[in-house]
Amino acid sequence: MLDIQINRTTAPKPRPDQASLGFGRHFTDHMFVMDYDEGRGWHDARIEPYHALTLDPAAIVLHYAQESFEGMKAYRTADGRVTLFRPEMNARRFAGTNRRMCIPEIPEEDFVQAVKALVDIDRDWVPTAPDTSLYLRPFAIATEAQLGVKPSASYQFLVIASPSGAYYESGLDPVKIYVEDEYIRAAPGLTGFAKCGGNYAASLAGQVKAHDLGYSQVLWLDGVERKYVEEVGSMNCFFVIDGVVRTAACTGTVLPGVTRDSCMRLLRDWGCTVDDQTRLSIDELMDAARTGRLEEVFGTGTAAVISPVGQLYYEGETVPVRDGKTGALTQRLYDTLTGIQYGRLADPYGWVTEV
Ligand code: COI
Repeated sequence: MLDIQINRTTAPKPRPDQASLGFGRHFTDHMFVMDYDEGRGWHDARIEPYHALTLDPAAIVLHYAQESFEGMKAYRTADGRVTLFRPEMNARRFAGTNRRMCIPEIPEEDFVQAVKALVDIDRDWVPTAPDTSLYLRPFAIATEAQLGVKPSASYQFLVIASPSGAYYESGLDPVKIYVEDEYIRAAPGLTGFAKCGGNYAASLAGQVKAHDLGYSQVLWLDGVERKYVEEVGSMNCFFVIDGVVRTAACTGTVLPGVTRDSCMRLLRDWGCTVDDQTRLSIDELMDAARTGRLEEVFGTGTAAVISPVGQLYYEGETVPVRDGKTGALTQRLYDTLTGIQYGRLADPYGWVTEV
């Protein structure tokens, strides 16, 4: 259990307009910080007024990207409570990322305690408008100042919070996806399963290309053969083909999403056949789209929630999905998941934790 020192701000910021929050652009009054030094371990857990960091220009994170992060949300229920959704899953995934990035372990209960402490002090910042939430960004950075390539001897673990609306500018309207056949995001043995900044840096060139062509996201193919569909980078991806819901297996190259896991649980409880083992080739996917057997496509993620996909582009060919309209299963997942998260529906799974 952390002993968290609290230093409250004396200059609270004006609150942003809830009608135009956007995603990740505004930040609350406080942040959680904890330091690590070799020989001493994690120490000095504290909440401070939100402020810029002071880092030595030689800090390892700035050169070799030794860092890890998480994405989660605090929700405002209709009766005014503030809740988190499966925070222990983020804590577990963060621990897995940190192991891969050689960042010293943060006990899962300390991670959850830190997140809850920040949400508690900034609870007034959890927005109330429909489909808004307080997006939470826990992250760890390597702070040692030296230019040799090695794990840092010192780190900071921080949590910041951002009142946010929908991740995509199109809101909940179906997004257009560009299937990337040149760059790759992950390969066996690399860091695809981990939530580390390097994965996202490597994805930018493909994303810029897709944006220039009018697509909002990139669907990544596997890094060995560029043949099997994997994920969208900011979301896991699901495809309904011939009545079977398919998504890529989490075998090292795909991020194990909390929303992905929750959707699979809901779908199976509704009696749907979910196949998260058989690899789906891009040829099979395009063929299913051409022949009308691709019933629905949607992405899942903490930031993106459930995001319908209305169009796919691959090697010069564009195929519509459900004529660009949201499918019934996609809508049901969205309604059920957000219903549980915002307390409109019962939570039979014990997913929701009150702060
Ligand atoms: C999330 O869904 O929370 C993510 O981290 C995806 C993206 C915003 C990086």
